[in-house]
Amino acid sequence: MFFKREISTPKTIGVLVSGGDCAGLNATVRAITHHATKTFNWRVVGIQRGYWGMWVRPLQTIELTPDVCDHQWVSSGGTFLRSNKNCHPPTFADGGKTYPNIDEAFCNAYNALGLSAIVVIGGDGSFNKLNQIHDFYNKTKKKGDHNEVNFIAIPKTIDNDVAYTDLAIGHETALDVVVEAIDNVQFTAESHDRVMVVEVMGRDAGHIALKAGVASGADAILIPEIPYNIDDLAKHIEHVYQSPQRHAIVVVAESVKTPDGETMRGTIGEEEQTRYRGIGENLAARLKERVSADVRFVSIGHVQRGGRPRIKDRLLANRFGVHAVDLIAKKQFSRVIVVVNGKMADIHISEVANTIQRVDVNGEMVHIAKSLGIYIGNV
Ligand code: F6P
Repeated sequence: MFFKREISTPKTIGVLVSGGDCAGLNATVRAITHHATKTFNWRVVGIQRGYWGMWVRPLQTIELTPDVCDHQWVSSGGTFLRSNKNCHPPTFADGGKTYPNIDEAFCNAYNALGLSAIVVIGGDGSFNKLNQIHDFYNKTKKKGDHNEVNFIAIPKTIDNDVAYTDLAIGHETALDVVVEAIDNVQFTAESHDRVMVVEVMGRDAGHIALKAGVASGADAILIPEIPYNIDDLAKHIEHVYQSPQRHAIVVVAESVKTPDGETMRGTIGEEEQTRYRGIGENLAARLKERVSADVRFVSIGHVQRGGRPRIKDRLLANRFGVHAVDLIAKKQFSRVIVVVNGKMADIHISEVANTIQRVDVNGEMVHIAKSLGIYIGNV
């Protein structure tokens, strides 16, 4: 099933990006590459299109060197290694050998590439997958049969929902993009005395909506963690509309339910994946029935995943990347890198897998929103 390899010299490490893109991914890969090659003289192999590059045959890799990862990697959005959000088994084209199990395919690829460790830059879904691969390895290993799959995980997601870390790469830049968009919406709302409903991403967590709403001076913020009442919301918005302000902004997170308790989803794309979408439009229609103002809605959508990484994300990317290589050098594996109260730390993957970090309804940011008179629901 597995084949044994000799430990190669110099040490080779792999790096892959998995899940939705965000700003700061290239800067992270660059930091890993520069530290690994310049400090330790290791070889770095980039895996393309996430786990897919390890499942498919021939393997999809590129050699990463400081020359390849030049200055543009610090300042660019997206991911030059490409990414992949799907976990479907690929079709193998390696002369007929098929893998019934993609975790086995991963372990085999790991050995075939002569890796001593792999860094996975991903979100909660990618970490669950990594944990699954690790379990597979532990269940199937026979002493001396094959080499241990050593990995380090780095959190990235605009949603900031990875557990136990204050920040994931990409969140701060996404916030900047969202706040700038809402600033623009504020002007048009003011010009036309309108209520604007702005739908933002975040999957099952309301971090983006809450922080961006507070930062942009929104009048109401709806997040999945806090239930709301449509009549209370409408009453608040009508009150704002009747004040000298004469316009209002409602920020709503994509997974917030309709006033009837329905989750708004849409089936889109080639893979027919179901995604949250439509609550902004639904809410605008329900508000229109209840307030005297004209109401419009806008969904910021994938625009919030783009943008050049802001300085906070560039610095975080470099901190995470360097810490990942340091952990490999110390042979401390199966760790997820986190930042807690501004300091780098790391915890075991089993603690992070299968859990997400949602907004703390008793936390400071909810308190701030309430203190500013923002409608945030029944809390
Ligand atoms: O997890 C990041 C994220 O942007 C979510 O906020 C959003 O729900 C989802 O990905 C969108 O997925 P896709 O890019 O597949 O449409």
